[in-house]
Amino acid sequence: MSKTLKEEFGRVGVLFGGRSAEREISLMSGSGVLKALQSQGVDAHGFDPAQRTLAELAAEKFDRVFIALHGRYGEDGTLQGALEQLGIPYTGPGVLASAIAMDKAMTKRVWLHNGLSTPEFEMLSADSDWTAVAKKLGLPLIVKPAHEGSTLGLTKVTDVAQLPSAYALAAKFDKAVMAEAFISGMELTCPVLGAGDDAQALPVVRIVAPDANYDYQNKYFSDQTKYLCPSELSPAMEKQVQELVLASYRTLGCRGWARADVMIRASDSQPLLLEINTSPGMTGHSLVPMSAAVAGMPYEQLCIAILRMAALDLRPTADWKPG
Ligand SMILES: Nc1ncnc2c1ncn2[C@@H]1O[C@H](COP(=O)(O)OP(=O)(O)O)[C@@H](O)[C@H]1O
Ligand SMILES: [Mg+2]
Repeated sequence: MSKTLKEEFGRVGVLFGGRSAEREISLMSGSGVLKALQSQGVDAHGFDPAQRTLAELAAEKFDRVFIALHGRYGEDGTLQGALEQLGIPYTGPGVLASAIAMDKAMTKRVWLHNGLSTPEFEMLSADSDWTAVAKKLGLPLIVKPAHEGSTLGLTKVTDVAQLPSAYALAAKFDKAVMAEAFISGMELTCPVLGAGDDAQALPVVRIVAPDANYDYQNKYFSDQTKYLCPSELSPAMEKQVQELVLASYRTLGCRGWARADVMIRASDSQPLLLEINTSPGMTGHSLVPMSAAVAGMPYEQLCIAILRMAALDLRPTADWKPG
C-alpha cells in the first residue's frame, strides 16, 4: 500500500504572515496553502513568525515546513538559515540562493557574470551624479530598492530632476537603491519547479497592465490587469523565455520552486531578466498557480509537489542532531 500524505509528510508547518512589507499577501498565500494541504489529508498547521518565536517553532516539532512568507525574514535566507539550524526541511531554495535572489543587484551581477541578459543598472547613493546616471542608462529609467518586493518604492523616472526624489522614496525602503535601464516591451513571468537537471519551466504568463503600469495597486487589487496564460507568444519565443528563466534559476542554485520576471524589449525582441522570486505568491490570483493550472496541475497538487521537494542544504549524517 502506498503511504498516505499524512504518513509521507508527518507534521507540517505552513509559515505565513511574517514581518515584511508583504505580510498581507503572505497571509493570503499561506491560508490558501494551508487549506489546500489540509484538504489533501496533510497534517498541516499554520505558524506566523511575526506572532511566535523561533523557540516556539522548534517546539512545534514540525517534520517539514512550507514557506509561504514573502520578502524579508521569510524569503531572504535568514529563515532558511534558522531552519537549517533546527534541522527542519523547508520548501524552496536554500540559504545562499534565497539571500542572493532577495538582492536584485547581486542577482544581476551573478546573471551578468554567466552571460544571462538583464537590463543595465547602477547603484545609487545620496550623492550620486544624477546627470551621469541618466546619461549612462538613458531616460526613462527605473529607480527601485534592491531588496523590496511588490513594486514598493519603485519609480519610473522620465526627467533627471526627478531622480533625487525617486532615490529618496526608494531609500525609505532600503539602504541599497538601484537605477535600471527602462525596458519598453512585453512583461512576463515564468515559474520553475524542481531541482538541478530535473528543474522545469512552467508555461509563461503575460501580464497586461492598464497603461503598462504594473504597480502595487494593479498587481494585487485591479480588475483591469490581464494575465494571459498561455502567453500567446510564438512557440519559439515561449521556449526562449523558458530557457532563459531556467538558466537564471540554475545559475543561482535554486531548488524547489521560484518565479522569474522577464521583459521582452520591443525594439529587438530580446528577453531580459528583471528578478527572481524564491517564495512567490500563492493567493487565488497568483501567477504560479495560474501557470501550473495551464500545465495541468491544480492548486492542491502544486502545493503537494512543492512540499514534497522540501529539503535542507546540508544533508544530515546518521549521527547528526538538530543544533
Ligand atoms: N527595468 C525596468 N523596465 C521596465 N519596467 C520595469 C523595470 N523594472 C521594473 N519594472 C516594472 O516594475 C515591476 C516591478 O519590478 P520588479 O523588478 O519585478 O520588482 P518587484 O516585483 O520585486 O517589486 C515590474 O514587474 C515591471 O512592471
Ligand atoms: Mg517582480
